[in-house]
Amino acid sequence: MSIHIALAKGRIHKVVMKYLMESGYEFPSYSEDSRKLIFEDAGHTLKLTLVKSPDVAVYVERGAADIGIVGEDVLIEDNAGANVYEVLDIGIGRCNMAVAGVKGKKVDMSRRITVGTKYPRIARKYFEENHHSVDIIKLNGSVELAPLVGLSDVIVDIVETGNTLRANGLEVLDYFMDFSARMICNPVSFKMKYDEIHTLIDVIKKKEIR
Ligand code: PRP
Ligand code: MG
Repeated sequence: MSIHIALAKGRIHKVVMKYLMESGYEFPSYSEDSRKLIFEDAGHTLKLTLVKSPDVAVYVERGAADIGIVGEDVLIEDNAGANVYEVLDIGIGRCNMAVAGVKGKKVDMSRRITVGTKYPRIARKYFEENHHSVDIIKLNGSVELAPLVGLSDVIVDIVETGNTLRANGLEVLDYFMDFSARMICNPVSFKMKYDEIHTLIDVIKKKEIR
């Protein structure tokens, strides 16, 4: 039985594909710059699809994919873990959630501040816990722009290398959560494809990527 894995498109899929190929799987039609979204390995044991990260859990929950690999940040923001099993911390894609603002510019936290973010739930919870009154503006990407053009006072976003913040003259005001990529599994697939899924988990565990 072949396993269908939905991979979060971007950094995560590139690392996982590289890793699977290093472990002996061959994907004849895969290349990093291809526009193709679905790949099968030469041995017909794995089918991989490239999915926007917030959609990975949707495919897995509905059984359109057996397995998903996606950042924990997305799973937490979308509260997506309820109907899937989280089977492995893959250890790649490590990043922190941070509040950031324009370098050197003081933010008066005693008044109501505006926050640009792709993570409105995580951001709201953080500011509530810290008793700050906030106006959250949901954005879909390039969040670093918001404080630079006066859309928001600060941002809440993930920081991996810090390059994006540095390149845009921003600085971290507070780090408050850390994340890594997780493997999730459809509960029915977990039973029906138990051996195949455990073989895959073992293959990924063997790689020294932690
Ligand atoms: C993510 C995130 C940060 C950046 C962090 O953006 O939103 O902007 O990566 O990584 P770094 O610390 O290594 O620079 P992404 O590239 O996914 O683009 P998007 O925000 O426009 O979706
Ligand atoms: Mg970004």
